[in-house]
Parts: sequence; structure tokens; C-alpha cells
Amino acid sequence: MTSPSRRVRVLFDETAIARRNEELAEAIVATKPENLLVVAVLKGSFMFAADLLRALHRSGLSPQVEFVHLSSYRTGTVSSGQVEILRDVESEVRGRDVLLIDDILESGRTIVFAKDLLMARGARRVMTAVLLEKPGKRAVTIDADFVGFTCPDVFVVGYGMDVAHAYRQLPFVGLVDYDSSEPDLFGGT
Ligand code: IMP
Ligand code: MG
Repeated sequence: MTSPSRRVRVLFDETAIARRNEELAEAIVATKPENLLVVAVLKGSFMFAADLLRALHRSGLSPQVEFVHLSSYRTGTVSSGQVEILRDVESEVRGRDVLLIDDILESGRTIVFAKDLLMARGARRVMTAVLLEKPGKRAVTIDADFVGFTCPDVFVVGYGMDVAHAYRQLPFVGLVDYDSSEPDLFGGT
């Protein structure tokens, strides 16, 4: 069993995240999006999306907001490469500017899958915003248009991101102190 009380080391704190969200919102506004539809990729992006949307509001944007739930199958903490739609967007995307929001850009497969899907449905432009980018892990060629922070190549939790649904509530991004004598820590799905 994963213990939610396990120590978590802070990597990006609340203040740094809040400051960065305002900067990202300004950068997004500068692209002058038209008829903007924001699509948050569930589940891990929910907290980032909620904060970024409020920052976008403060910066003067009034987007519509939608959700897509994608699953990239993982064995423990390693991506398998397949992406599946668990819940699709309901809105018409044809002719619209879309901002995809996800938590982490790692192999790139999730974002590429979502971007290709929305472009195939006729979106005018699909931009991508991710809280974290792990460089050196890309399996497909993609750069996010807006990146919160470059993240070391470690498994992170908090601010929406989880291990077996734990730690999502943390207001910061951190590392779980992992004791190798407990190999079941990342054993969940
Ligand atoms: P990609 O398709 O390999 O780019 O994987 C991105 C997805 O994997 C993210 O949306 C996360 O859900 C998940 N992910 C990748 N690294 C981490 C991590 O360190 N912590 C939590 N989730 C992660
Ligand atoms: Mg995800």
C-alpha cells in the first residue's frame, strides 16, 4: 500500500508555481487567441488548469473550458506508449483556437495524441501548455508552446499529480522519498 504520509520533498513550491502561472497567462494572451477553447487533460492537470484558468481570467481572457480524459498505460512509473480516450471533449473544435493543458510532457505521446485528435477535427490552431517538461525523455517530436518548469528526470507528485491517486492535493510539486526496501510503492496502476 502507498502511504500518503510518506515524506515529500518540495521541488516547486506554491509561490513559484503561482508566479509562473501569471507569466504563462501573459504569454498565452500575447498569442491573441480567438474563440478560445481550453481543454484540460485529466486527471493530472486539474489543479494546474484551475490555477492557469484563473490567471487567464485575470489577464483578460474568457475561454470556454472542456476536459478530455486520456490514459497513457503505464507499468509502474514507465510509459508504455499507448494512449486511450477515456472521456472525449463534447465541444465542436472546428475552426477554433484550442489550448491543451497537461501536467507533464515526458515522452510526448499524450500531448501529440491529443493535439493530432483536435487538429483532425478541424481546430484552427492547437497550442499546448504543460506545467512540467522532462527533457531527454521524448519519444516523439513535440515541444510545448508554454512550459512552467523544466523538471529533473525523477517521478514527481503533488499539484494534481499522483502515485496511485495519492498526493494530488499537495499545493506544491515534490518528490516522494522512496525507500527501495518497499518495492510496491509504484506498483499501482
Ligand atoms: P507522456 O505521454 O510520456 O508525455 O506522459 C505524460 C503523462 O505521464 C503525464 O500527463 C502524466 O500523467 C504522466 N507522468 C509522467 N511523468 C510523471 C511524474 O513524474 N509524475 C506523475 N505523472 C507523470
Ligand atoms: Mg496525464
